[in-house]
Order: sequence, then structure tokens, then C-alpha cells
Amino acid sequence: MRFSSFPTLSTSRLLLRRFKIEDLHHYARLLQDPETHPYITEAGPVATPTVRGMIERNRDSHFQAGHLYWALAMAKSNTFVGYVAAHNLGDNPVSLSYAVARACRRKGLMAESLREVMRFLFSLGAPALEARVHLGNRASENLLDSLGFQKETVENGRTVFFALAPDAA
Ligand SMILES: CC(C)(COP(=O)(O)OP(=O)(O)OC[C@H]1O[C@@H](n2cnc3c(N)ncnc32)[C@H](O)[C@@H]1OP(=O)(O)O)[C@@H](O)C(=O)NCCC(=O)NCCS
Repeated sequence: MRFSSFPTLSTSRLLLRRFKIEDLHHYARLLQDPETHPYITEAGPVATPTVRGMIERNRDSHFQAGHLYWALAMAKSNTFVGYVAAHNLGDNPVSLSYAVARACRRKGLMAESLREVMRFLFSLGAPALEARVHLGNRASENLLDSLGFQKETVENGRTVFFALAPDAA
């Protein structure tokens, strides 16, 4: 699934937009945060030059089949506060990954973002969404519970959560 232009989304407080190089500092902080990277990267904190390359790839994700990376930015300031990614687009299920900067947590920002991303992906015809959560990541488990995801199974130290499209439920 490819897009001719980036599918920007918005919520009352956030813009879910294309990554830009000015996000580097905030994105690198997030991917280097010792309380965050164990849940979102496979190989520890990500070096800043690598993060720059990731931004370049994320910016063009809509031209590639299979992935979309949204930078979450506060609508008023356009400041980067996190991201949501959709993987395996066109497959069943589409897989989600996400994180919010530590200073911006518990304000409902990820719940707000994921609701909008879910609406968008279901509107494209995705039959089901999944998220794989490391055991013990209560924040992410509770977040998914609050959005109506169901626990399915445990695989490779992660709990698999899924949500069906409203018309498939
Ligand atoms: C998981 C994460 C994205 C949540 O983002 P957030 O913006 O703080 O979440 P929200 O404020 O939208 O919270 C929505 C609900 O999730 C649950 N929740 C969020 N953080 C929680 C925490 N620290 N402890 C318990 N429940 C939590 C609550 O039910 C919350 O609703 P409430 O605040 O009304 O009680 C964030 O903690 C994060 O980035 N963690 C590190 C990266 C990560 O784990 N990514 C997911 C990988 S699967």
C-alpha cells in the first residue's frame, strides 16, 4: 500500500505529520531514553546519526509498501512529542508501534493519537490491528485495554493485543 502524498492526520491537540529533520533532537532523546528504548528498539539506545537516517526513511514511508510513520507534534507549536508507526500495511493484521516523550506522558496524547490512527487504518480496510507489548509494560497494556484491544497470546516475551475493525466484530 503506497500513498502519493503523506496522510497527515489531526486530533484536537495533535498533528500526526510527516517526520522532519528538525525532529532529530527530540526523536533521538526518545530513542535513547533508558526508560523507553527497551520497549521500542531491539538493540539498545539508538545513536544520533542512526536516528537521522531513520528520520530520512520515516519521511518517505508513504512511498514504500508496508509502513507508515507519523511524527506526533503538538498542534500549537509543531513540537515533536512522539510517534506512531503502522507496519505490514495491506496484511492482516496491521501492526502498531508507538512512544511518547517521557515529559508528555499521562496526558492522554497516545490514546488520542491511536484512536485517530485506528479510525484511519480501519477506513482503509484494515481488518485487524495488533500491538506486541513486552511483558511488564503496564503503561502500554493499560493503554491498549482502554482502547478496546483484546489480549490474544504471549509470543517471544511479548503479549499480543489485537483489535478488529468495527464492521468485522
Ligand atoms: C505506553 C505509552 C505510549 C503511553 O503513552 P501516554 O501518552 O502516556 O498514554 P495516555 O496518557 O494516552 O494514557 C492512556 C491510558 O493508558 C494507561 N496508561 C498510560 N500510562 C500508564 C502508566 N504509566 N501506568 C499505568 N497505566 C498507564 C491508562 O489507562 C491511561 O488512561 P488514564 O490516564 O485515564 O488512566 C508511553 O508510556 C510510552 O511511550 N512508553 C514507552 C514506549 C512504549 O512502551 N511503547 C509501546 C511499545 S508496545
